[in-house]
Amino acid sequence: MPALVLLGAQWGDEGKGKATDLLGGSVDYVVRYQGGNNAGHTVVVGDQKYALHLLPSGILSPTCTPVIGNGVVVDPSVLLSELSGLNERGVDTSKLLISGNAHIITPYNVTVDKVTERFLGKRKIGTTGRGIGPTYADKINRVGIRVQDLYDESILTQKVEAALDVKNQILTKLYNRRAIAVDQVVEELVGYAEKLAPYVADTVLVLNQALEDDKVVLFEGGQGTLLDIDHGTYPFVTSSNPTAGGACTGAGVGPTKISRVIGILKAYTTRVGAGPFPTELFDEDGEALRRIGGERGVTTGRDRRCGWFDAVIARYATRVNGLTDFFLTKLDVLTGWEQIPVCVAYEIDGKRVEELPYSQSDFHHAKPVYETLPGWSEDITKAKSFSDLPKNAQNYVKALEEMSGAPISAIGVGPGRDETIEINSFL
Ligand code: GDP
Ligand code: IMO
Ligand code: MG
Repeated sequence: MPALVLLGAQWGDEGKGKATDLLGGSVDYVVRYQGGNNAGHTVVVGDQKYALHLLPSGILSPTCTPVIGNGVVVDPSVLLSELSGLNERGVDTSKLLISGNAHIITPYNVTVDKVTERFLGKRKIGTTGRGIGPTYADKINRVGIRVQDLYDESILTQKVEAALDVKNQILTKLYNRRAIAVDQVVEELVGYAEKLAPYVADTVLVLNQALEDDKVVLFEGGQGTLLDIDHGTYPFVTSSNPTAGGACTGAGVGPTKISRVIGILKAYTTRVGAGPFPTELFDEDGEALRRIGGERGVTTGRDRRCGWFDAVIARYATRVNGLTDFFLTKLDVLTGWEQIPVCVAYEIDGKRVEELPYSQSDFHHAKPVYETLPGWSEDITKAKSFSDLPKNAQNYVKALEEMSGAPISAIGVGPGRDETIEINSFL
């Protein structure tokens, strides 16, 4: 029963889409277990580039069944347009399964996300504005709408009424907005029911049966470890658990079933939105990483904040996820630097700190302590094995592995499926 979890080890955009797609041909199921269309996963196959938001990256592998688990929040209009976009490009999406227990991102959740951010002003999180936080808030408040509710109009109406009761008070009295009409929301949601019906399933049962039948299941995280609601840089986080435990709750599979946890780790660091980021660069190096790495958000088109590799964060990701392997991505982007600084510890109030501080205030004050490694100038994008890499690139990878606490089992040297060095097999 091989069950693998693949997740972001930093602040997202590590290259999860590429890594999942690479494994997609050898696994039977790829499951998204949290997040929603705040995710933007890029997959490059030959000369074709796909940007996936809600659909698991396994959707591009014909033998693989893509699954949207119960822990995901689903915006039906986004899902349907993503499906039709892929169909127009000749991708068969008929195998998709969606959990009936997944929560729906309603139009009012999107509105609340946007007005809340505006209201926060300079304290805003910098969310993607896709209604993610308010939808998870409704779920925890027990006023959420689930996929299964689309199939019972009377229940749906009662639930939308309950959800809008308080929200309309807040929208009109606090935010000076117009109230949202229950019927309008119900009508829009019911309109999606028939189109989604072929995909809705008891995904918990399907996945557990698949594992019993020795099928290979890959759980694909959205976002990254440091954006986790419990283990990330709260409050500058997303509202779900991309960390490994989230795969169990977000898909209904017990922890005893998980055999491997792969952390996707960029060879440097990026972040989108607000929040602390100790190795962030505001100089030409940061600009160069952004330009060479193409660091622009897939979902919102915002420039990503860029900085050097942070080993403290990588070690933390190893710990909170129980990582068994790393997939190091974008090593090719570092080609051309004579010296590459790597953050090995922090200095907080004059003291050297080796591990991520639990205190938010301390993390805000953390200054990176750098060690500098020699760079390389040779093109590495054609490298097929570790020994094809220049000595200094090999040493950079070995140094990161030693600092990060888990073996680096694959290395990305370009965005394409085949631009990967496989060191240890994942399956
Ligand atoms: P995700 O959200 O973790 O799936 O990552 P994104 O797709 O948002 O961002 C990663 C970007 O890096 C995408 O444009 C990928 O095509 C690209 N990418 C992934 N791996 C590599 C790599 O090894 N080298 C280079 N140059 N680009 C990569
Ligand atoms: P992938 O899957 C990078 C960030 C937002 C914001 C915070 C909260 O492509 O790695 P939200 O809309 O989730 O409430 O926003 O989280 N964020 C991401 N940053 N990659 C992502 O996804 C992200 N999804 C959310 O920028 O700071
Ligand atoms: Mg992304």
